[in-house]
Amino acid sequence: MLNCFTTEAGEDATTITVVTKSSFANWLKSQPNSIQSWIKASGYLGKAGKTLLLPPVEEGGSISVLLGVEDNRDIWSWGAAATELASGTYSIVGNIDQETAENAALGWALGSYRFTRYKNPNKNPPKLLIPEAAALPSVLNLVEAVYFARDLINTPSSEMGPGELAAAANDMAGRFDADCSVVLGDDLLRDDYPMIHAVGRASVRKPRLIDITWGKPKSPKITLVGKGVCFDTGGLDLKPSSGMLMMKKDMGGAAHVLALGQLIMANRLDIRLRILVPAVENSVSGDAFRPMDVLKTRAGFSVEVGNTDAEGRLVLGDALTEAVSENPDMIMDFATLTGAARVALGPDMAALFSNNDQLAANIEAAAEDCADPVWRLPLWQPYRRFLDSDVADINNAGQSRFAGAITAALFLKEFVSDHIPWAHFDIYGWNPAKRPGRPVGGEAMGLRAVYAMLAKKYKG
Ligand code: BES
Ligand code: MN
Ligand code: ZN
Repeated sequence: MLNCFTTEAGEDATTITVVTKSSFANWLKSQPNSIQSWIKASGYLGKAGKTLLLPPVEEGGSISVLLGVEDNRDIWSWGAAATELASGTYSIVGNIDQETAENAALGWALGSYRFTRYKNPNKNPPKLLIPEAAALPSVLNLVEAVYFARDLINTPSSEMGPGELAAAANDMAGRFDADCSVVLGDDLLRDDYPMIHAVGRASVRKPRLIDITWGKPKSPKITLVGKGVCFDTGGLDLKPSSGMLMMKKDMGGAAHVLALGQLIMANRLDIRLRILVPAVENSVSGDAFRPMDVLKTRAGFSVEVGNTDAEGRLVLGDALTEAVSENPDMIMDFATLTGAARVALGPDMAALFSNNDQLAANIEAAAEDCADPVWRLPLWQPYRRFLDSDVADINNAGQSRFAGAITAALFLKEFVSDHIPWAHFDIYGWNPAKRPGRPVGGEAMGLRAVYAMLAKKYKG
């Protein structure tokens, strides 16, 4: 059990009364005068995400808490409560519907997350009393997946290199009896993954391709591909320090697909799952790949390196080629692929690209439904011209500074067959500032949306 929950009703649990903007006035009228004047004096208006401590109604009674929420779909107000309230046990007053119970637990847990690898939090998290009701295990699986993604992203590159990422993947796969194999170092050349090798070879920490499969062979095949650049220096086209600062998170896509895979397996969706993660460090050495090198690809065509800092699309290209070779029913990739996607959308939402309107619509609907926003951008084929190369079939970066997220997506599209529904998520994977339920640091973006979309279709 997560340490922000308890299932044991201690006698001294502080009760939380939930109010909405519209229910607040009537609720207030039903209260004793002493409480009414307390609330009035505090200026509390029942706004979503705001908590207020209430004194005991009578001598020897207990203190309680008021919490404003938007409605029963609200997740984040519960996240705010979990960070605002003091240590102790809290229980929700009255009969709440299942949706409220689930969203309360979800928000509470997401807001309670701390990265504790190097430092203990300075208070015990407040614990929410949750019923052992049938549907809460699904919330716990969801929370554990998001925690897993956040932990992977938050871990510094010194302890989350390609090897450690592969170990984490192998460990996770083992817990679900999934197969996990790894193509390591120069074997990438033998097995025809030239771009993964080229990008990763400069690092003393060898590049590798992590390959997980799980599920019944006859079930619909869904393949997840995640960018696992464990640190992105930019390579010989070295990033300035401001641009390099956050690049431990450049394996955020890998974190997303591993966490999503864990969630799929924990909930036993009826799919044959495959997860492919090219895990590399984009480093600098005498052996580094260079600007204007021409790389072979697993797909057979040639790529001119316009910029060694456009490395994500290279490693993903080879992984996508392998994904496509099985002719799966769906491919989804997650990647911290471009700064341009952040210029377009900011850090809060994943940029979504898809070659399939139905798939995109399903993802958008799920995203809306579970407050995990994505925004679709176009695979605008005319911009393919920005990737033209005089010496190779395609350039990985090109000279144009226009439409960076779109051209990156178009580069990936070259490796995917038009017949396979494909979604590409260009994510930030990081909360630069804290928001309710979303502490600063690594973050899963689009993960809950994609899971909801899949669960709707494949939950037996
Ligand atoms: N990992 C970066 C993209 C990135 C940077 C994501 C900052 C999130 C925050 C990626 O490998 C990269 O460096 N992309 C370049 C591509 C360019 C050289 C064509 C970019 O976006 O500037
Ligand atoms: Mn880069
Ligand atoms: Zn990168």
